[in-house]
Amino acid sequence: MFLKKEIMKNRVLAGMRPTGRLHLGNYLGAAKGMLTLQDNPEFDTTFCVVDIHATTTPYDPKTLQASARDVFIDYLSVGLDPEKSSIFIQSDLADLVTQLSFYVSSVMSVARMQHLPTFKDKKKQYPNNVNMALLNYPLLMAADILMFKASKVPVGIDQEPHLEVAREVARKMNEQFGLDFPEPTRFATVGEYVPSLLGEGKMSKTVEGSSIELSDNLDTILKKLKRSPTDSGHGDKVPTEGGVVNLLKFVELFEGEESRKHYEKLYTSSGIRYGDLKQQLAEAIFAEIKPIQEKRVELEKNPEYIDKMIELGAKKSRIIAEQTVMEVKKSMGLS
Ligand code: TYM
Repeated sequence: MFLKKEIMKNRVLAGMRPTGRLHLGNYLGAAKGMLTLQDNPEFDTTFCVVDIHATTTPYDPKTLQASARDVFIDYLSVGLDPEKSSIFIQSDLADLVTQLSFYVSSVMSVARMQHLPTFKDKKKQYPNNVNMALLNYPLLMAADILMFKASKVPVGIDQEPHLEVAREVARKMNEQFGLDFPEPTRFATVGEYVPSLLGEGKMSKTVEGSSIELSDNLDTILKKLKRSPTDSGHGDKVPTEGGVVNLLKFVELFEGEESRKHYEKLYTSSGIRYGDLKQQLAEAIFAEIKPIQEKRVELEKNPEYIDKMIELGAKKSRIIAEQTVMEVKKSMGLS
């Protein structure tokens, strides 16, 4: 019993939707946390590409599998390691995860799901796509996490409402059916909220022009940064919102806090030359993602290896997932 509890305490699960190649928000808000936990021997890490989640908003069935594979390769390129972690594509465990998400839906009320801010946002974004899959999205995510009895989830701050649901589901399943799901908490990184390049909101795959992708070259990064809004570069007080703050946030994330302070001082003295700031920032961003791009080029030379790793990940993660689903079925009187 003691051993079982110890193992449960340290499991980690995280996922990303294959709605496009990864951007700096995904990298700083999620992947960095995944890497930290993967390299900490106290944790047992499982990561997935959540392609079933991608079907809850408009998508192209013809390209979904290729996109899932692309994100799987991005995972390996940023340093997730199939030797240290189980890394799989969600639909390879579709039988288990969709099953579990249905079981857990019996403990959550419709009203609770309808009032989630993330559901309301998606309703606004896709008014013609307000379907049951979208309403169930957080329960599918809870199933991802609970299936591995994970207690730590490395995700950006935008996922907090979903984690709250996962905790509620865990609590209710434990109370009603005598299960032992840990209540999962978020593992935060310094980049838990990466702003959009457009001056407001967060960096997002679905907002055109808001993001820098991990696949962007120096020229593209600079072009994108040049489009981000600024001001005269000089004033009595450093602004607290808008494009300038976002740029300074990027400076902090990629060049360090000292550089940010340096620019803040310039703002209230001789003034910031944004052309120089953006050039330096573009170089710092590119320096960080260049090794990721190089690793990807290497990985793409060996498609058989990728196939093998996808298969291995599914096999490894299925072992624990199957155990959990069996346990839930038993507790719910289904076997
Ligand atoms: P998704 O695919 O939208 O994003 C993947 C991860 O990237 C983080 N992220 C950000 N972090 C900081 N700043 C940003 N601008 C930014 N944009 C995205 C997200 O917080 C996320 O960690 N519901 C999840 C996918 C999911 C999942 C799971 C995550 C499904 N099942 C189980 C963890 C565990 C989502 O839509 O992420």
